[in-house]
Amino acid sequence: MKRAIVVGATSGIGRQLAITLAANGYKVGITGRREGLLIKLQATRPDSFIVSAFDITDIDAVPQKLRQLTDELGGLDLLVLSSGTGKINPVLDTVIENQINSLNVSGFTAVANWTFNLFQKQGWGHFAAITSIAGIRGSRQAPAYFASKAYQIHYLESLRQKATNLKLPIYVTDIRPGFVDTDMAAGENLFWVASVEKATSQIYSALQNKRDVVYITKRWRIIAFLFRLIPKALHKRM
Ligand SMILES: NC(=O)c1ccc[n+]([C@@H]2O[C@H](COP(=O)([O-])OP(=O)(O)OC[C@H]3O[C@@H](n4cnc5c(N)ncnc54)[C@H](OP(=O)(O)O)[C@@H]3O)[C@@H](O)[C@H]2O)c1
Repeated sequence: MKRAIVVGATSGIGRQLAITLAANGYKVGITGRREGLLIKLQATRPDSFIVSAFDITDIDAVPQKLRQLTDELGGLDLLVLSSGTGKINPVLDTVIENQINSLNVSGFTAVANWTFNLFQKQGWGHFAAITSIAGIRGSRQAPAYFASKAYQIHYLESLRQKATNLKLPIYVTDIRPGFVDTDMAAGENLFWVASVEKATSQIYSALQNKRDVVYITKRWRIIAFLFRLIPKALHKRM
């Protein structure tokens, strides 16, 4: 039986992905801060899920929490990091920006480093994280969110290069959603909003195929391409 951890499995994409992994025979460690939601999820399939509630911004605690959960699972083949936050911040409130960075940058890094080091030590593994199409260009609406997603994209690219350099079968998947119908996707002017089920089914398939980078849903690749093409002079007026 394959063993996976989903960090951020209390809601949204992470929760549905944990369900999909369990339905496909994985034993899944589920994490997040809201323990009650994890326990509810575990009750739907007690043999498939192991609960560990913790906050990944408590970066000193992350290694011990992940180690303990991995031991309970009996090893680790796949870790998917779905935890993330974002907020529109037109007034540039530094408190908001730092809260985002604390999770999307510091927490992300703590989980990524622990996972990669474990996989390097054992000689194999698969690390995936949900980044965003937002990581491709900056945005005046939510500078920290867009910048933190760019950080994640480059961090994953760095780890992928490190794995290749080490000549180890360690796979690193960067999952870049457009809009997915979760609590996070609240707001106006949303388009091509995918259901959580559709998004997760495409994510699962990308994981099975050990893809480097995947856009969710697939047509968001077109938007990514167009984003990159926008000339700087035009982008700064948007
Ligand atoms: N939905 C979209 O349209 C969209 C688009 C692009 C990218 N994404 C990315 O997809 C990922 C998942 O988001 P979602 O849409 O599924 O939203 P969500 O339902 O709000 O899920 C966010 C998850 O992050 C966890 N989390 C938040 N703070 C945490 C902390 N300090 N420590 C540990 N876990 C924490 C939450 O669990 P607790 O609150 O229980 O801790 C929850 O499980 C995020 O990285 C987001 O940036 C989403």
